[in-house]
Amino acid sequence: MATAEAIFRTGLPRLHHFDPFFNCSSSFLSVKPINGRSRRSRRNHCSKAVLKCPAKVYACRGSIDPLSFGRINKSAGGPGSSRCKCQQQSETFGSDGGGMSIPVFGINGGGQDFALLQQLKPENGDVAVGGNGGMLDGNGTAATSTDVQLKGASTNPIEDEAWDLLRASVVYYCGNPIGTIAANEPNSSNVSNYDQVFIRDFIPSGIAFLLKGEYDIVKNFILYTLQLQSWEKTMDCYSPGQGLMPASFKVRTVPLEGDENASEEVLDPDFGEAAIGRVAPVDSGLWWIILLRAYGKCSGDLSMQERVDVQTGIKMILKLCLADGFDMFPTLLVTDGSCMIDRRMGIHGHPLEIQALFYSALLSAREMLAPEDGTAELITVLNNRLVALSFHIREYYWVDMRKLNEIYRYKTEEYSYDAVNKFNIYPDQIPPWLVEFMPSKGGYLIGNLQPAHMDFRFFSLGNLWSIVSSLANMEQSHAILDLFESKWEDLVAEMPFKICYPALEGQEWRIITGSDPKNTPWSYHNGGSWPTLLWQLTVASIKMNRPEIAERAVELVEKRISRDNWPEYYDTKRGRFIGKQSRLFQTWSIAGYLVSKQLLANPDSAKILMNEEDSEIVNAFSCMIGSNPRKQRGRKAVKQPFIV
Ligand code: GLC
Repeated sequence: MATAEAIFRTGLPRLHHFDPFFNCSSSFLSVKPINGRSRRSRRNHCSKAVLKCPAKVYACRGSIDPLSFGRINKSAGGPGSSRCKCQQQSETFGSDGGGMSIPVFGINGGGQDFALLQQLKPENGDVAVGGNGGMLDGNGTAATSTDVQLKGASTNPIEDEAWDLLRASVVYYCGNPIGTIAANEPNSSNVSNYDQVFIRDFIPSGIAFLLKGEYDIVKNFILYTLQLQSWEKTMDCYSPGQGLMPASFKVRTVPLEGDENASEEVLDPDFGEAAIGRVAPVDSGLWWIILLRAYGKCSGDLSMQERVDVQTGIKMILKLCLADGFDMFPTLLVTDGSCMIDRRMGIHGHPLEIQALFYSALLSAREMLAPEDGTAELITVLNNRLVALSFHIREYYWVDMRKLNEIYRYKTEEYSYDAVNKFNIYPDQIPPWLVEFMPSKGGYLIGNLQPAHMDFRFFSLGNLWSIVSSLANMEQSHAILDLFESKWEDLVAEMPFKICYPALEGQEWRIITGSDPKNTPWSYHNGGSWPTLLWQLTVASIKMNRPEIAERAVELVEKRISRDNWPEYYDTKRGRFIGKQSRLFQTWSIAGYLVSKQLLANPDSAKILMNEEDSEIVNAFSCMIGSNPRKQRGRKAVKQPFIV
């Protein structure tokens, strides 16, 4: 632990620490032009001669086809076929340099035995997990209440097709499944970066595989992306924080130096340096933590999250998110396009989606952080942030009829510590559409809050993940689902469902999107309908014990999605057309559908994604509500479990 910990504390890049996953001492960073660009590429390739790597080295059987992302062409291997030199996953124990043994892909300690779980697989491929077998409760102990039968083959042809497509989208690195390609459209001439593995896009794929009992691809994804976290990343002459996770990565096959007949595979990540708009993906690290927790809960393999490098990775993400800045708000301050909406859409500042993922990642990280010296302080900071964040969002982002009426009657320019209209919101900001849209029963969390500005647009992912993570309280969570039901024709209509509502039009669209032709009204990020959001709706509705909402949405999806070739998004107010520039065979549309079906068949399995309301946070929260902000300004600290 010593080496990695020291690096974390001093904030040095982890580029030179021992790498337990690859079991090599220095396998990285050679500057080499790739596709004409001079880039730093990670060579996770170890050759005995060069690196004196103790791990086994093998040549992949069959050739690696760069166009099909390293998928092994089983029939190849003859003259002209390229070979890749790859390191096999180490089955041995690594060391942190301090003499401590680290299990590599091993199962030990409190974790369930992975091999044992594998043995539970019946011959037909179904996996029985549950009882003492795997699904864990919020405290990390084995759930005993229900056995969860994870289904293998289905009787639904759409599901069967989806599984075939999902498997066909798998990307391999050195022979190991490592992720899924964003879109696998045959004969597409303009792939842009859809031929990469996106972190956020892989989440539903990863969950689908976990629920199917296929853990390896998720394990590999987690560990390889962790390697990319410590990459040296620069935009012109500036480097973002070390904890940043890439938006996407690609497996490239490049000629092996000094041997023109051989090739090797390299991982080539994009942290936003190549992305349109050059935006850092703030959501990637948060999703990574959420997936890591889900992996542990589903597989029972807790040794993964206990690994030194994984613990360091979690801390680096937290360090980046919890760093002090100029902010007066506990919400995470980000630039436009730093999440699923990765183009300019006026969501800079404190967008709800990031806050919900942030909250979920903080809770998940707290569950996984190993108790040790140096972590206590981090946990205190984390706890304080959780309380402040939930208070802030529940209080200031919430709108329903009552709150809207309150805003409508706001007084402005209140200079005082106990102002009612703290952010100086001018009532004229209430948009005319909202007066019509707001149902008498139901409410939602607004998209963004900044001084003198409330972005009243409804953003689906942020609202759904606020339910899943318990960022919204119980009452609010039900009210959000009430709104979904009563505004079904606006938010869903013919395809679930709108990424946000309503669309920006006219002058507003011109100014806010920069006249983006991809984000025209009711298309793409600007009010387009995204089938992938189905899985988040499913987790949220199962959590609130209202699965019928998700079932209704799944029925709609099944009417069209396979016939339409699994589009990325749909256009128009009612979601009637396949999106103008929508990719077909979009993997997260496929995986999102599968996860929904799996969760609806086994609602208990949704627990791997949920965060339950934390009673300590609720206590601290009520202390805050009951306290007068003025009184808190005294020197004496109030005695309560959290510093607020
Ligand atoms: C689009 C989406 C983004 C997604 C990417 C790959 O850019 O906006 O969220 O990750 O496509 O599918």
